[in-house]
Amino acid sequence: MLYSQVIKENSDAQLKSQVREYWDAHPCGTQFTDLEWGSREFFDEVERFRYTTQPFMKEIVGFDRFPGKSVLEIGCGLGTDLLQFARGGAKVTGVDLTPKSVELVKKRFEMEGLKVEAQVADAESLPFKDDSFDMVYSFGVLHHTPNTQKAIDEVYRVLEPGGRIIIMLYNRTSLHVWLGAPLFAAARLAGKKSADGQKLVESWIRIYDGDGNPLGKAYSRGEMEQMFSKFRNRRYIVRDSYRRRWPRLANAINKNLFAPWCGFWRFIIAEK
Ligand SMILES: C[S@@+](CC[C@H](N)C(=O)[O-])C[C@H]1O[C@@H](n2cnc3c(N)ncnc32)[C@H](O)[C@@H]1O
Repeated sequence: MLYSQVIKENSDAQLKSQVREYWDAHPCGTQFTDLEWGSREFFDEVERFRYTTQPFMKEIVGFDRFPGKSVLEIGCGLGTDLLQFARGGAKVTGVDLTPKSVELVKKRFEMEGLKVEAQVADAESLPFKDDSFDMVYSFGVLHHTPNTQKAIDEVYRVLEPGGRIIIMLYNRTSLHVWLGAPLFAAARLAGKKSADGQKLVESWIRIYDGDGNPLGKAYSRGEMEQMFSKFRNRRYIVRDSYRRRWPRLANAINKNLFAPWCGFWRFIIAEK
């Protein structure tokens, strides 16, 4: 192995342990409620909040379109989406880099009396045989792992020929980046902190998931076309979440005018 490759792998491994630490302490969704983690009220509130602020999920993902099929969710977090697939009759498997998420997913499914295979695993090296699943789903995850392409190659490997993927990655060509990054730069300069070009955009994208989030990336459609080029019938849908800090009118304008073409979330739906 080349020396430069060894250095890169070591720094990726270090970064990944920071990613694991961050998400283990802040499982996705817990930031929107003060309820006790793992209580029924907590799970209900996480679910209510998710589909109120992301009302398009059910239509785009079609949770009930996979009865009897094997569905893998990579980076399942609290398992809210995985639960919808299970309620729709799918045989579900969830993996996440963090033990805390896996613990909460198991608890959630137990409360619901539904079956799940949940385990700690790394998207870049999945513990499954080739062609294992009918569908692979991942929402807002693969841009948090150091080697996103390696994770996409793993998705391809574990998916059955003819199987489907639904994956959401952050969209670089978005209002969130075009407007937010300059405003972020201005705020930094006003606070007399340096604001250096490209790094600033990277920081702005990273802190979307919290100041302490160690890694967040965003991709253009062209980049996603290349990264997912092994998959057939690639289609894309762009959306944005309801923003809690924005006034209602701004959210309505964003939802109707901007989100469908320059929202921050781009789904790819494709087949192997
Ligand atoms: C923004 S949260 C999204 C969670 C969930 N999909 C959701 O939408 O609520 C990102 C999740 O990705 C997980 N993650 C990050 N890197 C990962 C990796 N290499 N393998 C598996 N999961 C990973 C984190 O632990 C975290 O649960």
